[in-house]
Parts: sequence; C-alpha cells; structure tokens
Amino acid sequence: STNDDVRYIYITSGCYYSTSDQRNSKFYTDPTEAVKDIPSGATVLVGGFGLCGIPENLINSLLKTGVKGLTAVSNNAGVDNFGLGLLLQTKQIKRMISSYVGENAEFERQYLSGELEVELTPQGTLAERIRAGGAGVPAFFTATGYGTLIQEGGSPIKYNKDGTIAIASEMREVREFNGRHYIMEKAITGDFALIKAWKADRAGNIIFRKTARNFNQPMCKAAKTTIVEVEEVVDVGTFAAEDIHIPSIYVHRVVQGTGFEKRIEVRGGKRTVKKSQTEKPKPKKDSDIVRERIIRRAALEFEDGMYANLGIGIPMLASNFIQSDITVHLQSENGILGLGPYPTEDNVDPDLINAGKETVTVLPGAAYFSSDESFAMIRGGHINLTMLGAMQVSQHGDLANWMIPGKMVKGMGGAMDLVASAGTKVVVTMEHSAKGGKHKIMEKCNLPLTGKQCVDRIITEKAVFDVDKETGLTLVEVWEGLTPEDIQACTGTHFKVSPNLKPMQQV
Ligand SMILES: *[C@@H]1O[C@H](CO)[C@@H](O)[C@H](O)[C@H]1NC(C)=O
Repeated sequence: STNDDVRYIYITSGCYYSTSDQRNSKFYTDPTEAVKDIPSGATVLVGGFGLCGIPENLINSLLKTGVKGLTAVSNNAGVDNFGLGLLLQTKQIKRMISSYVGENAEFERQYLSGELEVELTPQGTLAERIRAGGAGVPAFFTATGYGTLIQEGGSPIKYNKDGTIAIASEMREVREFNGRHYIMEKAITGDFALIKAWKADRAGNIIFRKTARNFNQPMCKAAKTTIVEVEEVVDVGTFAAEDIHIPSIYVHRVVQGTGFEKRIEVRGGKRTVKKSQTEKPKPKKDSDIVRERIIRRAALEFEDGMYANLGIGIPMLASNFIQSDITVHLQSENGILGLGPYPTEDNVDPDLINAGKETVTVLPGAAYFSSDESFAMIRGGHINLTMLGAMQVSQHGDLANWMIPGKMVKGMGGAMDLVASAGTKVVVTMEHSAKGGKHKIMEKCNLPLTGKQCVDRIITEKAVFDVDKETGLTLVEVWEGLTPEDIQACTGTHFKVSPNLKPMQQV
C-alpha cells in the first residue's frame, strides 16, 4: 500500500479513542475528587491573572479538602473573598510566589505582619521560570532585576512580628554577555498545576479563551500532575488540531467546572467602562489639571507604527490622545497585542482584561497569547516604548516604583521586565514632587529599585528631562511661566539645561 493508504487506515481505525486506558487525561465530574490527593506541603501552580482565568472550582475544592502548608505559585492571590484569597483567609497557604500583591488587602496584611511568606518575582521572570520548568531548562539568565533587591538578595520573604526580616531572598549570580549584565534565575516546577481553560476535547487537548490564557499555558507543562478545569468538554475535531494551545500530553486530569462566577475585579468600587456621551464631565480639581497636563505631554511620545506598553493611570490615559493620523499598537503584558478602548457595559467580557485588570476591548487584527510569550516579546526588545509611573527617579535613570519597605508593597508586576528590555524606550510620567513637597527626582533613590539606569525620559507637570545613564539629567522642556531656576528649586538633584530648551508641548 502507499503511504496515503497507511495514513487513511490510521485515521479511521479510531484505535486512539476507543482504548481509553491509553489516554493521558482522565475525566472527572467532581472537582474535589480531582484534587483530593494534593497533600499538605505541596507546591501548586495556579493559573490566572487577577481574577481572569482562575480555576474557581478547583480552588473551592481545596477549601473543602482542607490541605495546609501549600506553596502557591500564582501571579496574584485573587481578592479578599474570591480565588486564592479564600485559601489565604483559611491560612492554607504558607508561601506565595507571585509578582503582584496590590489590591488584595488580606494578602498585603498577612505578608507585612509576618503570617505569610511571599517570594515576589518579576512577572516575566516568573513566567519564564515556569516555562523553563516545563521545558527541562534548570536555569536561565535575564537582565530583569539586575541592580535591584532581586539580584542583591535580602528582599523580605517573611517578616517577624516586629517588622524585621525573618527570611530574606537569596542573591543571584551575575554574568556579563555582550557588555550587559544578566542574573541567573532558576526554573519552577510544581507537584500539581490547577488550570482554568475554555474547552477540552475528549482526547484531552486544551484551548483557552482571550486573556484567560495568561499563566495557565506555561503552568500546564511544569507540574507532575496537571488538573484542568474547563467550561466545556467537546468532541475531538470540534477545534482544529492546529488551533490547540496545549496538547493532551501535558493534561492529566480534566474536570468540567460548573457555575463559573468569572468575577470582574473592580477599582474604586466600579468597573471600568466607556463613559457615555451624555454623562456630564465633572468639575476639574487641581490634581486633575496636573494629570491632564502630564497626559497631554505624554501623548506626544507616540510615533506611527510603534508598539507600546502603557502602565495603568496616566500612561494608559495618554493613549486617548493618540493623533488620528498615526497607528500605535498597544501591548498588554497579560497577553494582548492590539488593545482597544474600554467596553460599553453591554460588551464587558470577564475573559478580556488588561494588565491593570480592567475590562477592555481589542481592535481588528489583535492577538492573544500567554504570559511567557508576552514577556518573550518584552524581554526580546520587540516593544518600542514603555511608559509608567514612579515613586522616585535618580539623575542616572534608576527607577523605584514597587515598594516601601515594611509599609507598603504592591509588587513589581511586569515593571522590572519592561524597564530591563534593551530595545525599549522607558518614559516615566509622574507628578514632579510627592505630597508635602518631597523630591521624587533625586540624586540617588532611597527606595528599592525597579531598574537601574533604565529611564530615558521623565515627564512631569512642570518639566521634561532627558536622562543620560552616564551624564545625568538635561532639562529639555519647561511649563509656561516657569524658569530653570524654579525647576531646580523643586528638584532633588542638579541638571543641565538644554540649549534648545522649549516650552512644554501639549497635544
Ligand atoms: C520598533 O522597533 C522595531 C525593532 O524591534 C524597529 O524595527 C521599528 O522601527 C520600531 N518602530 C518605531 C516606530 O519606533
């Protein structure tokens, strides 16, 4: 017979599906049954970004089995009363390995009061450590975190009751490649992975929906036992073989979940939706005027054809002022290229959020991908511009924006990865001074750094500075009515004044 005949026989014989014991994936109807052998002290990889794409039923089942002392690897820890936040409340988690704590009050409280161990890990490093774990790569080098507490070690993992550090993070090995510094990060593997997917076919292949893919995809591959909760189990062939996100080899157990809540995280008690045309604009406060000035200057950083990643707040708002004659592709590190505006209330989709955990839309031509892919894009220098806020910036472009030791910890999220990317211009947008007039632009930052010598430009409501890693700051624009001397009086370090000093530009 010809090769074609052989193939034909193989396909139609159906032997693969008829002998279920040859299949890797076991199907469950009861999620508690699927997790009941997870022992106390296990390391569990838990998919999701914020509340998007979290294995709701599997997490609820762990509440029932009462397993304790877990190490949970998860980008966030849900919110106080949903997702992993539930397992924090019942004190079933001993250690979290995460990139972001912010907006979860109980998570922050347990950490700062010494009840919970937290290994804060830059988001891209976290995604790549998991990817490496699944791919049999024991460690790798990344520029992310060089010159910060991540590299230096000594970052608090556990506090004592009195606020001193009980467990500190380890120092990382540094090596130089082609004149740049990189730090060694080790792979992460789990005993179990708890995954939320959209659909599984009866062979155990998996697809995800929109931004609910995030960490779920790399985590599937990095655990000894991968348990996937899906919305639907479908016949083989319902989705094409070339559209499969996770082949069945990585999938050990499949549970069809029920009653998904798919909660949407809210900010300030409200979902972010497009303002209706009829809504009256609120009267502007002084702080709004300051912000708008920064936003209208920041918008001038966009150039035609650029790929940009924007922090939440002022940078994201600047995208509302992109000139209509240019195209800017917005990347969101939770897995979108081609981000669109906020949805109307009717178009809100809990599986479609941005990195600020706000519901969004996408533009025609957009793409979704996983967190490890997203940070490959970022780390690989494919993004032209990143704009983000700061607590402090030094004269040589050191940036601090992720924690105040012992007082406040938000986590670095993806910021350390974004600012460490060699090909990406880093623009900081922030108010010129902190409350009470404290300097934010200073000789040397006294808060833990997000990145060393990484900022290229600073935009405030008073001035625009260019930053040179070696020679320091140059004042290039100043707000109407202010002089370089006025700026010097409210800036914590010296700067040069450009011979082409201009009035601050606005769109
Ligand atoms: C964006 O970066 C790419 C390299 O990754 C470069 O080829 C392209 O010219 C840049 N585009 C803009 C508008 O800066």
